[in-house]
Parts: sequence; structure tokens; C-alpha cells
Amino acid sequence: MERIETDVVIVGAGAAGLTVANRLKDAGRSVVVLEARDRVGGRLWTNDIDGATLEIGGQWVSPDQDALIETLDELGLDTYERWRTGQNVYISESGERRLFEGEIFPVPAKTEGEIVGLIEKLDALVAEIDPDAPWSHPDAKALDEISFAHWLETQTDDEEARLNIGMFIAGAMLTKPAHAFSALQALLMAASAGSFSNLVDADFILDKRVKGGLQQVPLLLAERLGSAVKLGQPVRTIKWQPDAPEAGVVAVTDSLEVHAKRVILALAPVLYSRISYEPALPRLQHQMHQHLSMGFVIKVHAVYETPFWREAGLSGTAFSPYELVHEAYDNSYDGDPRGTLVGFVSDEEADGVFRLTDEERKSAILESLSHYYGEEAKHPVVYYESDWGSEEWTRGAYAASFDMGGLARYGAHLREPVGPIRFACSDLAGKGYQHVDGAIRMGRLVADGILAEG
Ligand code: FDA
Repeated sequence: MERIETDVVIVGAGAAGLTVANRLKDAGRSVVVLEARDRVGGRLWTNDIDGATLEIGGQWVSPDQDALIETLDELGLDTYERWRTGQNVYISESGERRLFEGEIFPVPAKTEGEIVGLIEKLDALVAEIDPDAPWSHPDAKALDEISFAHWLETQTDDEEARLNIGMFIAGAMLTKPAHAFSALQALLMAASAGSFSNLVDADFILDKRVKGGLQQVPLLLAERLGSAVKLGQPVRTIKWQPDAPEAGVVAVTDSLEVHAKRVILALAPVLYSRISYEPALPRLQHQMHQHLSMGFVIKVHAVYETPFWREAGLSGTAFSPYELVHEAYDNSYDGDPRGTLVGFVSDEEADGVFRLTDEERKSAILESLSHYYGEEAKHPVVYYESDWGSEEWTRGAYAASFDMGGLARYGAHLREPVGPIRFACSDLAGKGYQHVDGAIRMGRLVADGILAEG
């Protein structure tokens, strides 16, 4: 066992962990980052698949994400706009393909009225929610006891309106069915992006991409830390002495023992229980962490010889709550003359297609894409499914959220330190929750807290 002494040991080299590490290092503290995988970035991973550059994990940047935008500027990274010129596609329950522009789907006038009414209602509620403390809303408990699906039923009897509004938070964001999370959790998701209208607006929420890929952020942050980042080092045990706080804390991997004053868990909260703690974490954390779970989505990448949909006057943006692929976009990579579509298959639909063989699943997904873009969509030259559910060190996508009632019951305690242990992850964020922006915010918050402790 090699022994290392440092001021702060950070577990996890994702955007959150690397932000903390850089901020502490810049303030003169010594740091060591222990990463389980053989690469940095966690849920950010830009990879070459059969000659195509694909963003396996997170990729988009929206204009409100100022912590991320500041980091991009600081690292000298440039962005480019998602292709959005042309008409969008919506598919109705009967399978009719309808073209439209703007944000409101081409649905019957009554349904459109219901959708607009729901967006207004949600915007008004979201304006009352502090994303850093949704539990402090006067109706927090009641809103956390009702599922988002049920809440929508109390608002309108128009099923198509409910399905579409539900899709923006359920399939598209929390990647859980709308009956599996509360109305309060839905409001937090929207509040973290500024408003419900922002979530509905694909041009806002999926605005820009980073040249070279979003994994550049953790790669460049790690480069600044040099040999302080240790790859292939899953932390197995964290030990400290409650009666002797001056003795600090030890993070133990299979080959390293890192002694420090503080340890930061910069990993998805569903993975906290993979680590043994001596002494055990307190009762509250044991309970609370069991009420958080990852959503589940397959991000599907299909690369074609040309962006053929553009020639047909289509933007590539497509939605339908009735399709296996509930949303899809033009995701062509900067500088690649070929065209790429990205589509998403969420929660129960994802469970369903993973029961199929690889070929059957690919065929079902491409069939769904062809409903939006025509037969050509069935013949990509590169096809890839990002499957984070089978990644041992993530276990789902995009991020973690509370089960029913969990947010009001436990949310206020999520970031509370335990002895020398601090918690930083996008999944604990208020603004930028579940996004890279939130990971950076949490990283900054925890680093500043440690620096303030002296
Ligand atoms: P993250 O999970 O990235 O990092 C944690 C690190 O800890 C990992 O590297 C892991 O290996 C490591 N680890 C775990 N256990 C360990 C142990 N015991 N010992 C050592 N290391 C351990 N966001 C966005 O802003 N725009 C977007 O477009 C998208 N889209 C998107 C698509 C997909 C498919 C995914 C999966 C995610 C997104 N996201 C996103 C979300 C975004 O990627 C995510 O919120 C952040 O990257 C999370 O960063 P963190 O550092 O908080 O955790």
C-alpha cells in the first residue's frame, strides 16, 4: 500500500470533483483525486465510434448555465450552435406526421389551449420555488406526496396535453415515468433551469455544443492537476476518528492510502453505499441515500452519409409522446460533413427494448426514427447506443432524483457534511441540477466551504 499525505482527497474525477480540486489547488491547498475509471469525466465522455466523434454522455450548454459558461471561457473552449433551421416533426397518437415551427406542438386547438394553460400554471408555480431549497415552499409536503402524473390529472382531462407536458420532465429530464416522482421533484427540475418554459424550449435548453466535445472540460481541468489525479483507483473505504478530528481522514483504494484533512465524495449519490465507512455513516444518511435513484435513458446516435433531413426542409428536431424515441435532434458534429441524429428512449421504454436482442433493439429504434425522418433514417453508417445503466460507476442516466416524498423529507440534509466528509455532485445541485453547470456549482460551493473553514 502506497501512503500519500495531502490536504484534501477527492473521490471522483467528474466535473464536480475536478472543479473542487482546481479551486482548492488555486488557493494553495494540496489535493489528490481518486478516480475509479481509467479515464476522467464521469458522465462526460467524448469518444470516437467507428470514425465518428460522439458525445456518449452530456453535451449541451444552455444560456443560463453561467458556471459552465465561465468554465468554458476560462479553459478557452469554443462553442457552436445546434442545427435548428427548418421544420420540426410531431407524431400524433394515430401516427400522423405533422410539421411545425416554434415550441407548441401541432395538436388540436383544445389540446393546445390546455398545453399553454399548463405551461403558464407551471411557470407560476416554478417562480415560487427556490431551486436550492424546494422543501421550503409552503406546499412542499403536499406537492411531494402527489406524483407528477397525478398532479397533471388534477389539472386537465386532456390526455395528449398531459402526455406532452409530462414528457418534458419525465422522459426528457428525470428519465423516470411521471408516476414515479413527485410534483415537487418536477418543479425543482424546472426551477433549476430558470422556468418551465425554458425546459419546453429546445432552442434554449439544447442551445450550444462545445468544439472538441464537452469532455474537454474535465480533461483540461485534470491536466492542470497533473499527477494529483489517480486513475483506476476505486475508493473502497473511508476511515476517520470522530473523537480525534485532528487525525483527519483516510481514503483507501486497492493500492493507495490517502491521508487528508477532508474527503469530498464527488460521485453520484446512488454510489455512496459502494464505499465502506469506518465508522458507519449516520442513520440519516443511511436512510436518505436509499431514497435517491438514477433515471434511465438510452442516448441513440445515428450517423448518415449526409444530413438528408435538411434537404427535406427539416430541422431534425422531433417529438412524440407516442413514439419509442420520444425526442430526437440534429446532432451533426462540428466539421463532419456527415449528418448525425441523436434520439432518446427513456425509462420503461428503455427497459422494454433491453429485453430484445441487439439487432431487434436497433431495428425498433431506427424504425421509430424513420417515422420522423423517412426511410433513409433506417440506414445509418454508424449506429451507437449510450447505455449508462450498465456502467458500474454511474448506473443510469442522466442523474439521480428522489422517490415520492423523499425531497421534502430529506432534501435539506443532502449536502450536510459528516465529520470530515463533504458531498459535491450535479445531482445535489439547485440551479443546474442534473447538469454539468450544477456539478461545477457544487464543486465551487464545497471548495469555498473548506477554504472558509481555514
Ligand atoms: P459524475 O458522475 O460525472 O462523476 C463522478 C465520478 O466519480 C465518475 O468519474 C465515477 O467514475 C467516479 N466514481 C464513482 N465511484 C467512485 C469510487 N468509489 N471511487 C472513485 N471514483 C468513483 N448535462 C448537461 O449539462 N448537458 C447535457 O446535454 C447532458 N446530457 C447528458 C446525457 C447523458 C447520456 C448523461 C449520462 C448525462 C448528461 N448530462 C448532461 C448530465 C451531466 O453529464 C452530469 O450531470 C455531470 O457530468 C455529472 O458530473 P459529476 O461530477 O457530478 O458526476
